[in-house]
Amino acid sequence: MEDLVVAITGASGSAYAVRLLEVLVAAGRTVHLVISPAGQQVIGHELGLKVDTENFALEQLLPKSSTSDDAGAGQVRFHDYRDFSAGIASGSFQTDGMVICPCSMGTLAAVSQGLSQNLIHRAADVHLKERRKLIVVPRETPLGSIQLTNMKTLADAGAVILPAMPGFYNQPQSIDDLVNFVVARICDQLGVPQDLAKRWGSQSL
Ligand SMILES: Cc1cc2nc3c(=O)[nH]c(=O)nc-3n(C[C@H](O)[C@H](O)[C@H](O)COP(=O)(O)O)c2cc1C
Repeated sequence: MEDLVVAITGASGSAYAVRLLEVLVAAGRTVHLVISPAGQQVIGHELGLKVDTENFALEQLLPKSSTSDDAGAGQVRFHDYRDFSAGIASGSFQTDGMVICPCSMGTLAAVSQGLSQNLIHRAADVHLKERRKLIVVPRETPLGSIQLTNMKTLADAGAVILPAMPGFYNQPQSIDDLVNFVVARICDQLGVPQDLAKRWGSQSL
């Protein structure tokens, strides 16, 4: 089982990223984590969490979670978004895939054009060129033609476009339910077992 890459960028929806990290750590996966400056800003605004990217510690992101103990912290390898010498910047570094969650329209544009201006763009570019799984979780509405074209470009290049669009057919009762819905779909794409949301066709639906 190889490592996974999770990138958090400056779109709304930091709660999806935090939940995803919790689930991946609980599943015993090693996660390479990169957070853009805008992602850090949105985490602070939406979740009230102060993430110090110069001196990162997992409990800054998962303060109430049992997964932010020493074992969890050992599974999450944080990389500065400017660090092009990180392993994940190279195709020779093996991973099981990468998720950009949430993905801003800015990062979507950069990745779709192969710009590689920071470690997030570069790692995504590597996943595409190595034909590995890249899951992009965009959050914007409404969508303009440039954004839609960028999504089409990425989908054509092999990425999975998995918009942060929770369904309502399983009667969500809380924000947690909505967050879990999206994270469950991401985990399904990654092949990470999860029991976060009821599946259509299961007896309880
Ligand atoms: C509170 C807040 C919410 C934002 N929400 C979104 C969003 O939902 N989608 C988006 O594309 N950009 C959003 N932005 C703007 C991005 O953060 C901005 O375009 C930034 O340059 C993205 O940089 P990054 O892709 O390097 O993270 C938001 C910004 C802030 C401060």
